[in-house]
Amino acid sequence: MVRWDDNMQFESSSSNQEDSLNPEHKCRQTEVRVEEAMSKSPAERVHNAAGEVEGVFVHSVDLTEQVEGRRSEESETSLKAIFNQASFGIAETDLTGRIVLANRRYCELVGRSLDELTPMRTADVTHPDDRERDQELYNRAAVSLDEAFVIEKRLLRPNGETVWVHKSLSVVRDEQGQPKYFLCVVQDITARKQAEEALRESEQQLKTLADSIPQLVWMAEPSGFVFWFNRRWYEYTGTSFDEVQGWGWQAVHDPEVLPRVLDLWRKSLHAGSPNEMEFPLRGADGAFRRFLTRVIPLRDGHGNVTRWFGTSTDIEDQKRAEEAVRQKQNLESTAVLAGGVAHDFNNLLTGVLGNASLALEGLSSSDPNAEYLREIVQATERAAHLTRQMLAYAGKGSFILKRLDLSTHVREIGTLIHAAIPRQVAVEMALTPDLPVIEADPGQLQEIVMNLVINAAEAIGEGRSGKVRVATRCQNILQATEARFIPECPAPGAYVVLAVEDDGVGMTEDVRSKIFDPFFSTKFAGRGLGLSAVLGIVRRLRGAVTVESESGRGSRIQAYFAAVPREEQTGQINELGLTESGGVVLVVDDEEMVRGVAKHALEHHGYSVLVANDGREGVEVFRENASRINVVLLDLVMPVMGGEETLQALRSLHPNVPVILSSGYDETRATSGFQSSQLSAFLQKPYTASQLVSVVARVLRKPGRIDS
Ligand SMILES: Nc1ncnc2c1ncn2[C@@H]1O[C@H](COP(=O)(O)OP(=O)(O)OP(=O)(O)O)[C@@H](O)[C@H]1O
Ligand SMILES: [Mg+2]
Repeated sequence: MVRWDDNMQFESSSSNQEDSLNPEHKCRQTEVRVEEAMSKSPAERVHNAAGEVEGVFVHSVDLTEQVEGRRSEESETSLKAIFNQASFGIAETDLTGRIVLANRRYCELVGRSLDELTPMRTADVTHPDDRERDQELYNRAAVSLDEAFVIEKRLLRPNGETVWVHKSLSVVRDEQGQPKYFLCVVQDITARKQAEEALRESEQQLKTLADSIPQLVWMAEPSGFVFWFNRRWYEYTGTSFDEVQGWGWQAVHDPEVLPRVLDLWRKSLHAGSPNEMEFPLRGADGAFRRFLTRVIPLRDGHGNVTRWFGTSTDIEDQKRAEEAVRQKQNLESTAVLAGGVAHDFNNLLTGVLGNASLALEGLSSSDPNAEYLREIVQATERAAHLTRQMLAYAGKGSFILKRLDLSTHVREIGTLIHAAIPRQVAVEMALTPDLPVIEADPGQLQEIVMNLVINAAEAIGEGRSGKVRVATRCQNILQATEARFIPECPAPGAYVVLAVEDDGVGMTEDVRSKIFDPFFSTKFAGRGLGLSAVLGIVRRLRGAVTVESESGRGSRIQAYFAAVPREEQTGQINELGLTESGGVVLVVDDEEMVRGVAKHALEHHGYSVLVANDGREGVEVFRENASRINVVLLDLVMPVMGGEETLQALRSLHPNVPVILSSGYDETRATSGFQSSQLSAFLQKPYTASQLVSVVARVLRKPGRIDS
């Protein structure tokens, strides 16, 4: 029996006195150092003589050992409960990897009962593809002291299903440090793996899609650091990831345009706003093509930019097609204007030139006025050259088509070429022999060569040394779809090409787009008609021109002429002969000045002249004088009754009367409405008195059609 003292405190779980006498009490007994010992104490009341309760008789038994035993039993039970109710799988394996114990979750994960599992090895419930890695984990865990090793692998169920798990493996050792068994803890991560796989798949799909489109696609970090490009980017630029990643992409930009691109890109990065711009990118072949680039930011839930997406679409062909259409429309409208102006100018010049030459003929060479008249004639001839260029641009220039070999022709005008360019500029000729024959006017061909060569030399700059290369070659055009041709891609077939190349200043994009506009010039004294005339002539011959030029990198301009098919034959107009006097000439022209010049010139050379100021009057005059008229000089464009109609009327009156057609338009165009047998000759305006007389004389000497 123990007396109640400080070391023993009586604690009642209830205030109820009856309860406080409950046999189970909690005691604290510091001496036996059992913090909480259970005392089974059948308490007995001690009564006094009066029968009142005087005290309680308590006897305590030390139950520490029993309590500890019960504690360890409880802890084992709770461990077992934890083991079995854990949301992750736990398995114990022996050192050979054989499963000796597994919890319920583990059994669920592998889809097997504990009985089935215990003779198995973990390798048996692991996906075959993961077994090697799994085994490696055991090897590493076996030699580690206390580290746990982790792996993500697939468990294999008997029905073939797989479960992705995160496995943590550790070795349990005995007191001597010898490995006793392995403890492995697995957690189902299938859902996460599926999400990752779905993400990976969708990224893969996105990349496959990005790789399959013709656009260049790229992605950048919020800072602007580009970390991914699609396959087309590498194909087009011929670069590698290392070269262009981050900010390295600048290497494929045109240095002239790059500052604008960078400025826009930085503004977008700063503001987080999308942008769109057109700029050229250098391809693997070194040539630039224009691209339309769109950049958009991708934002997270908080509105922060997480990525930038960029696409660049090649718009070079589209741009060129647009330019070609614009240029063609421009060409057509300005050609009509230039043609009209030149035509009227030619009539005026015919008057000036004819009168001046007539006046000159009437003066002795010592007459002081002769010099003035000669100056007038010279100035008029220069003006006539200008109108010829304008007519050429309008596709209405005077020309006589001849079959010729381009290389031979260029060689023949070699002296002229050398004379036209400064000494510091070297001329290199690369003329291909035996080219197919082309059909062109030699004078116009010379105009083309000279214009191109002079432009090339001028591009090198005064006093500078440089090189101009004139080359000829043959080239087949297979499809009429190429956009680089101006005014448009010529019909498929064989073409003879004249290429003039220089290493001069080159052209900016802006200049390049205007060079064929009449009167466009970047030169102080340039008239801006050279290339306009080139284009007009080539266009007229159903050829085309191409221009390749970059600012500071020289230029190459090429003219394409259709090769004449071997089997095809064409006639050509003979040169006109010398003068011969006598006869009556009917001059039908609506321009009074032209009529006057023709009348004076012819009368001066012994002809009788009748005049009519339009077609109808011409027919009337002819009807009245048919028997005495030897030749008719007929203007093409007249009011009331034009040249064509007049000719028909004249022919109905006299089928064989020789008719000379005269026009400010070129012969081919002017005579296109006539049968070749109907005309005796063609006289281009403006003409000098002697040219007129020479044609009339030739026609009269050889009545009827003078062409062979
Ligand atoms: N080889 C070239 N290199 C650089 N620019 C050129 C070249 N050829 C032509 N150009 C540009 O095209 C413009 C027009 O050329 P075009 O021959 O029509 O006129 P121009 O040479 O200025 O005057 P002109 O009527 O006397 O020939 C030139 O002023 C020049 O700016
Ligand atoms: Mg020029």
